[in-house]
Amino acid sequence: MAIRKIVEMGTDDILRKHARRVDKFDKRLAVLLDDMADTMYEADGVGLAAPQVGILKRCVVIDVGEGLIELVNPEILWAEGEVVDVEGCLSVPGRRCTVARPEKVRVHAQDRKGRHIEVEGDGLLARCLCHELDHLDGILYVDKMIEDVTDKLEEEEQEGDGEA
Ligand code: NI
Repeated sequence: MAIRKIVEMGTDDILRKHARRVDKFDKRLAVLLDDMADTMYEADGVGLAAPQVGILKRCVVIDVGEGLIELVNPEILWAEGEVVDVEGCLSVPGRRCTVARPEKVRVHAQDRKGRHIEVEGDGLLARCLCHELDHLDGILYVDKMIEDVTDKLEEEEQEGDGEA
């Protein structure tokens, strides 16, 4: 268990690369997922994708306050609705922008043992799932920004949780 360094936009093009599928469900993967969770909690984030810690693997951790979710090789099965809301990203510190995301999504993935799982979420969880899966394809939320609202929000709202 260890805290890893979070890559920030503009410092490393790894955030723009397509992450590779995981085919070995070994100790190394378990360590990566443990470290990603530690790093996310340390940074008060709600989600983190492996490229954000410099690893081009299709791995994501999420915790929107309902417990830790680990997703390996995640794919969206279906999505419905659309909600525009404010988003932040641990790799784009200090900014908040509005983005349109599905209201509800269902994701298929594997767990750290390679077992197939499905996760369904709405609201913040749906937003977070879409945000993290985008990271695996080199997409940052600012690419989808509708409006930069950083200056409109109070300072205390710009810090703390909500970044992914
Ligand atoms: Ni992010």
